[in-house]
Amino acid sequence: MELKYDFLVIGSGIAGLSFALKVADHGSVCVLSKTRIEETNTRYAQGGIAAVTYEPDNFEKHIEDTLNAGSYINKREIVEMVVHEGPQQIEQLLQWGTRFDKTDSGEFELAKEGGHTEKRILHHKDNTGLEIQNSLVRNAHAHPNITILDHYFAIDLITQHHLGRIVTRYDEDTTCFGAYAINLKNQVLHTILAKTTLLATGGTGNLYQTTTNPEIATGDGVAMVYRAKGVVENMEFVQFHPTALYNPGENPSFLISEAVRGFGAVLRNQNGEAFMDKYDSRGSLAPRDIVARAIDTEMKIHGHDYVELDCRHLDQESLFNHFPNIYKKIKTLGINPAEDPIPVLFAAHYQCGGVKVNMHGESSIKNLYAVGEVASTGLHGGNRLASNSLLEAVVFADRAAKDAIARIGSVNYQENIPAWNDEGTTHPEEMILITQNYREMRQIMTNYVGIVRSDMRLHRALLRLGIIYRETEDLYKKSKISQTLCELRNLINIGYLVIKMALRRKESRGLHYNLDYPPGEGKTTN
Ligand code: FAD
Ligand code: SIN
Repeated sequence: MELKYDFLVIGSGIAGLSFALKVADHGSVCVLSKTRIEETNTRYAQGGIAAVTYEPDNFEKHIEDTLNAGSYINKREIVEMVVHEGPQQIEQLLQWGTRFDKTDSGEFELAKEGGHTEKRILHHKDNTGLEIQNSLVRNAHAHPNITILDHYFAIDLITQHHLGRIVTRYDEDTTCFGAYAINLKNQVLHTILAKTTLLATGGTGNLYQTTTNPEIATGDGVAMVYRAKGVVENMEFVQFHPTALYNPGENPSFLISEAVRGFGAVLRNQNGEAFMDKYDSRGSLAPRDIVARAIDTEMKIHGHDYVELDCRHLDQESLFNHFPNIYKKIKTLGINPAEDPIPVLFAAHYQCGGVKVNMHGESSIKNLYAVGEVASTGLHGGNRLASNSLLEAVVFADRAAKDAIARIGSVNYQENIPAWNDEGTTHPEEMILITQNYREMRQIMTNYVGIVRSDMRLHRALLRLGIIYRETEDLYKKSKISQTLCELRNLINIGYLVIKMALRRKESRGLHYNLDYPPGEGKTTN
């Protein structure tokens, strides 16, 4: 079945919905979500959104903190732009009805997180993401030009390739005409034609065995762009959050926000030693790459499975008031923060790289924008500064919307796009083939492509992933479209990109730490 919209938005998190709301007065908009519109990474964001509000904070400090966390391989002009445009987009979120906590005197109550030299995180208790998601969903439902298609899975982008032309990675005129998608409720395949397409498909956390990301984070957008021969970059920079709750068997891992450390909690090893001061003068509030590696080292030295977050010295009523959801969660596990340290461990959290875009969120493929975690804008460099992700998404959604609105009048729908050819004859009934390959893929990535890497481990991972890749491609060709199989295929693509780009970076920088290139000794790649 063929559908036509001026703007096709793939993804209903902060990036997708804020773009949709901005373009909706200029044409018809279709928002796709592969589960429910509310189920996004955005919904789970805890700490908040970073932006400069009051003295003593200023733009220069936020810019410097972002560059420092990113190991100075961020694009400075992008960092400056995002930090300067941040406050305006916070104003926009407020207009859409998002509430941020305030002090008794009516000012925003600002929190601090790792790598920030000032308090600058606006938040709503410890569930800022849910507050943002809810306000965006309310506005999207209320807009007459926005059609929301829940439980629609985007399979691939439509380009000249589907008109029979050979498309290569650096073709400058590769153009996106929309996407193929499947309605997961009735299995009907759709050709969705669009003048402008926005990819806002979020992250890739499920590449690893332990992740804070919900099930939806399977890297579909990056994989679709890679298959469509678009440019993808910086995939080696996978961010592990240092403090996910250690609760074996719970998937996704429950996050203990970095703001808890900003509130005064201290990391200790199981012997009670506050070890972070050995690794960085900023202690428990050093940037995430440093903290996660320090935890990894401590666990290896002492043979422990986790470290501990100590809140026992903090005012417990105030801790509860600031972090009610975290407090309730740990209480359900029998942990009393007044008496017991909280067991924590790192977990895959955020993909710093992705679809390469310019200042306006435009990808290398014409009429295709990418915003949010799927995109690589240059803001994060080698490691994202805490709470800069939601900020990046709203700032780039605004820029992409303005750019797309200015061009929409000169774009036409592409004619004669063939329907999706569902050649496969069998249903992938043998789910064991998919689940086993999924499990193996995550093991490979966790064991060989985690926080500490080496060339030998990366080569081994590439070899083993190659076997799974070939088996999965074979199954994909024979099978009817299935969401699980598509997601596995996408994650394998992502794993391949992470490994390839990790092998190419002959240095240890930011989140990419390779034992063969001690910090400061390698060759700077960019
Ligand atoms: P998402 O919010 O993940 O939305 C992705 C959307 O794409 C979903 O609607 C999904 O259904 C859709 N989708 C994906 N693939 C397909 C497909 N094939 N077809 C159709 N639809 C598809 N960042 C901060 O700045 N501050 C924080 O405090 C913070 N806390 C976090 C806490 C947790 C537990 C997690 C997991 C992340 C946190 N982050 C935080 C990171 C931040 O939440 C994400 O980077 C950000 O929300 C991503 O937004 P997005 O709009 O790009 O994608
Ligand atoms: C957190 O609350 O620790 C997550 C913040 C982030 O990922 O930016």
